[in-house]
Amino acid sequence: MEKTLSIIKPDAVAKNVVGKILNRFEEAGLKISATKKIRLSKIDAKKFYEVHKDRPFFNDLVDFMVSGPVVVTVLEGENAVSKNRELMGETDPKEAKPGTIRADFADSIDANAVHGSDSYENAKTEINFFFATKEIF
Ligand code: CMP
Repeated sequence: MEKTLSIIKPDAVAKNVVGKILNRFEEAGLKISATKKIRLSKIDAKKFYEVHKDRPFFNDLVDFMVSGPVVVTVLEGENAVSKNRELMGETDPKEAKPGTIRADFADSIDANAVHGSDSYENAKTEINFFFATKEIF
């Protein structure tokens, strides 16, 4: 069984669609091993997205991620990393397939409703960033 990290971003939390998004994970056979609502500090957001620090969108991304609470979730299941990415759809909602989370709930490439780990290795790092071992079931 594989684990991955999902973040429901401030835009989707503000739209009150947290339950609808979590339901999609469960309907697809992924289990919620841990979940919590938190507000990231600027330091947290910069550290989490460090890999993008030289990209032109970095400052806007950080500002957006601290603009309101987020819901961070550990998902578990067979091929959890790729399954979650399929459920999310493309980063830019304009390119996301109909029926994906971003097609249905995202407004723009910045306010794109969800983040999901892009590899098994990154999933481990991202899960450890938010959760202690004793919080994951
Ligand atoms: P996420 O999966 O959280 O990873 C990095 C985020 O940067 C991405 O979703 C987008 O919300 C945001 N972003 C803004 N512009 C771009 C871009 N041109 N390419 C990739 N990600 C972008």
